[in-house]
Amino acid sequence: MRTVTVLGSTGSIGTQALDVARRRGWRVAALAAGRNAELLLEQAHAFRPATVACAPEVADRLRGALPAGTELVPGDEGTDRVAATACDAVIAAVPGIAGLRPIRVALREGRRVALATKEAMVAAGPLVRETARAHGGVLVPIDSEHAGVDQLLLGEDRDTVEAIVLTASGGPFRKGPADLATVRPEQALAHPTWSMGRKVTIDSATLFNKGLEVLEAHQLFDLPLDRIEVVVHPQSLVHALIRFRDGNLKAHVGPHDMRLPILWGVEDAGRPSLGLEPLPLHGSWTFEPPDRARFPALDLAYRAGRDGGTAPTVLNAADEVAVDAFLEGRLPFPGIADAIADALDRIPPRPLSWDAIEAADAEARRLVAERTARSVP
Ligand SMILES: NC(=O)c1ccc[n+]([C@@H]2O[C@H](COP(=O)([O-])OP(=O)(O)OC[C@H]3O[C@@H](n4cnc5c(N)ncnc54)[C@H](OP(=O)(O)O)[C@@H]3O)[C@@H](O)[C@H]2O)c1
Repeated sequence: MRTVTVLGSTGSIGTQALDVARRRGWRVAALAAGRNAELLLEQAHAFRPATVACAPEVADRLRGALPAGTELVPGDEGTDRVAATACDAVIAAVPGIAGLRPIRVALREGRRVALATKEAMVAAGPLVRETARAHGGVLVPIDSEHAGVDQLLLGEDRDTVEAIVLTASGGPFRKGPADLATVRPEQALAHPTWSMGRKVTIDSATLFNKGLEVLEAHQLFDLPLDRIEVVVHPQSLVHALIRFRDGNLKAHVGPHDMRLPILWGVEDAGRPSLGLEPLPLHGSWTFEPPDRARFPALDLAYRAGRDGGTAPTVLNAADEVAVDAFLEGRLPFPGIADAIADALDRIPPRPLSWDAIEAADAEARRLVAERTARSVP
């Protein structure tokens, strides 16, 4: 029986992780969430963790209502406590740069981290890998594409790998409208294949999410950026491919169900069954190149990766603030990529360190907040 902790337990990944926990009989040692006190309470009663963490402003709703034996620790201190709790795997699913600190805590404790928070590898990949190496921590990706690559690489000689190909659904605007300035948040939130949190759903609509995944793959699999390709595959059944130097390709295929990569992240041996319906093999699977002109956020990610140092941190922070502005109606859809490009132009990359990441993150947020405060959709 495995013991897990979940960072971001009330979110899309977190709730699916707990569904896998229920199906597999994993024990849940600790849970961290943000403001959704009702769901966290429900989860605490169902799984009886020793510790739960929540945003300080909802702590009063949980006090006195938790099961006996469950301790409440609000705020960052609580999230860090959850990340440090002894377990077989920490499922890391707090989105954005906020997810980085608890991942660092877990790796310092030598934990296995089942990594959904792609922003951690994007902003701090070399430092995260170094922390894992120094403390015996292990990183296993549970982003579906990266979990696919992880499985494709099993038994392969890394020197034979020419390129990694990540698939993208293309998002809700693959076929239109021609003028993306007209799209509204509710249209951008209607993802054609995946049901996910709001930030990652908007990032899928701009293709920024694929850009983050390119940078994540670059860090996780140690392959140069020009050998990480993106292809649009609207059916989202092929998650990733490997192109070998002899010309052969190997593809990872699976249902679009995040519970499978989550299972892989925690139990990568034995391929246990979750009792899911088998994927029917009929219908057509199509592939097309991404439209890089309509979706410039993809190439901005490559640019930030090539600029190196703190540029990916700036890229990520600029997007987080710009996505919020778009969701709140203060920025038109194409303004998200414009804001990212402007931040990359104006904030020079600095050599990577934990302090430099913090400073670059704050600078980019300030810059985009000022810009979007003025913007009118
Ligand atoms: N969803 C997917 O299918 C998918 C696929 C691949 C990768 N990912 C990645 O996985 C991560 C999570 O995505 P998601 O879609 O699950 O996001 P989500 O649905 O928005 O959930 C986010 C979770 O994190 C919690 N949270 C937010 N800020 C926090 C903080 N400062 N401290 C502690 N908990 C905090 C939220 O709590 P409250 O809701 O209680 O406030 C919620 O439990 C992202 O990095 C995303 O890119 C997601």
